[in-house]
Amino acid sequence: MSNKTLAIIKPDAVSKYYMGAIIEKIQSAGFKILACKLTKISPEIAGEFYAIHRERPFYGELISYMTSGAIVPIALEKDNAVEEFRKLIGATDPKKAEAGTIRALFGTGIEANAIHGSDSDENATREIAFFFSESEIVMINS
Ligand code: RTP
Ligand code: MG
Repeated sequence: MSNKTLAIIKPDAVSKYYMGAIIEKIQSAGFKILACKLTKISPEIAGEFYAIHRERPFYGELISYMTSGAIVPIALEKDNAVEEFRKLIGATDPKKAEAGTIRALFGTGIEANAIHGSDSDENATREIAFFFSESEIVMINS
């Protein structure tokens, strides 16, 4: 059980100024922020990040969507982080996400679902390293 995961506040949520409200939810749920940045990625970089989805029917749309505006990758720490964070964000489709989850509150569709969460410890490690170098990982109050 690893204690880290990667979140990405997606373009729909950033453009609607939900960033503050989403970070509030994340911190209230006991996750510590290790690194966070506002950025924009090219289709090449998005393609690399989502290489695992290359064969899926929505891959092209996913790349267009994730490059349509600013995003906020956030490295997070908590015990059992991957599983706990996926519980906090809810199901991929906001309509099916449990009430009170981040996707239920801020997502608008199966694609524009406000937030990403790593789906395994292995992917969490890869995804954090994808957006942040070792020297950018910082612990508040330590
Ligand atoms: P994420 O990776 O963003 O945390 O989401 P997830 O595990 O719940 O869902 P995944 O199957 O990994 O899909 C990645 C993202 O692709 C978009 N998507 N579009 N049009 C569609 O049917 C469809 N299905 C998925 C969503 O933005 C989803 O989060
Ligand atoms: Mg996924």
